[in-house]
Amino acid sequence: MSDRTFAFATLALHAGHIPDSDTLSRSVALHRTSSYVFKSAEHAANLFALKETGFIYTRLGNPTQEVLERRMAALENGAAALAFASGTSAIHNTVINLCAAGDEIVAGYNLYGGTYTMFDGVLPQFGIQTRFVDPANPHNFEKAITEKTRLLFVETIGNPALAVTDLEAVATVAQKHHLPLVVDSTFTTPYLLRPLDYGADIVCHSLTKWLGGHGTAIGGIVVDGGKFDWTDPKFKLFNEPDPGYHGLRYAHDLGEMNQLAFIMRLRLVPLRNLGACLSPDNAWLFLQGIETLPLRMERHCANAQAVAEFLHKHPQVQWVRYPGLPSDPTHPVAKKYLSKGYGAMVVFGIQGG
Ligand SMILES: Cc1ncc(COP(=O)(O)O)c(C=O)c1O
Repeated sequence: MSDRTFAFATLALHAGHIPDSDTLSRSVALHRTSSYVFKSAEHAANLFALKETGFIYTRLGNPTQEVLERRMAALENGAAALAFASGTSAIHNTVINLCAAGDEIVAGYNLYGGTYTMFDGVLPQFGIQTRFVDPANPHNFEKAITEKTRLLFVETIGNPALAVTDLEAVATVAQKHHLPLVVDSTFTTPYLLRPLDYGADIVCHSLTKWLGGHGTAIGGIVVDGGKFDWTDPKFKLFNEPDPGYHGLRYAHDLGEMNQLAFIMRLRLVPLRNLGACLSPDNAWLFLQGIETLPLRMERHCANAQAVAEFLHKHPQVQWVRYPGLPSDPTHPVAKKYLSKGYGAMVVFGIQGG
């Protein structure tokens, strides 16, 4: 696709894909291959030395996965993306691409249970601590920041309490302290909300949910806004020579790609060495799902709004949380960010428990 501006629905169908010049195949091909042929020893050496781009081994990258990454970057208004085996591994790899032992995270306390446990129970085993705060007041993030903080983390709509985060307010705090704001946008998808447009730096998704849309695969993706300045020495992983990669300093030695230091290191270090790669088959299934994302999200939101309104009036229902209900505590925030709909999830409690 050229530099022209395309509507979201067109990007969902075509972004990141150039029809194959040999076969002229219209649809994205599924490349079920673990490895690739090198044209010569020099070609191989150049690929490994990052002097040329291309595929080496599917743990590091794959043509089908690359279309998914380019499509998601386009849909999020981001610079580049990297797919993972699950939403969980997308978040874990993002965190360890920014934090080493001794570093800290400041996160909203209303995270998906698996992420909460990763931050609260698993990361401390490796010396990374999280300070959890009530995200209802963005000032709470500022109060929890220390000199050890390396990132702020929130969900757009928290799972499962469904509180909507005031992204712009949290991004203002992040910018003031020169920290990246990492946003899990699983519950909104880029159709409802693009966190990078509101000052976030990195967006994570579980592809498993609405992006995939059919319940057929587990996967995750990380999108890099490409605007954060990683040359700040407090981000040691980007500024000190990496002995595992010929002494490369990711924020300095990548030439034109320096601005993409985060996503480059994410591929070259955690993905390459820990191996949580997405399978080509699952990349293809997610591309298939994303084609209909706009249509499905519209219907999901309409259905959820109707269910929430029905439950809200039901005599046997004690409480309902849905950001689209005018009575919901975060409805005023939701109205600012979610002009196309308030998401697909509704939670409620019945009278008598
Ligand atoms: C908001 C959110 N983030 C991340 C995840 C983890 O994604 P996955 O199940 O693909 O690992 C989930 C899973 O339910 C989720 O709801």
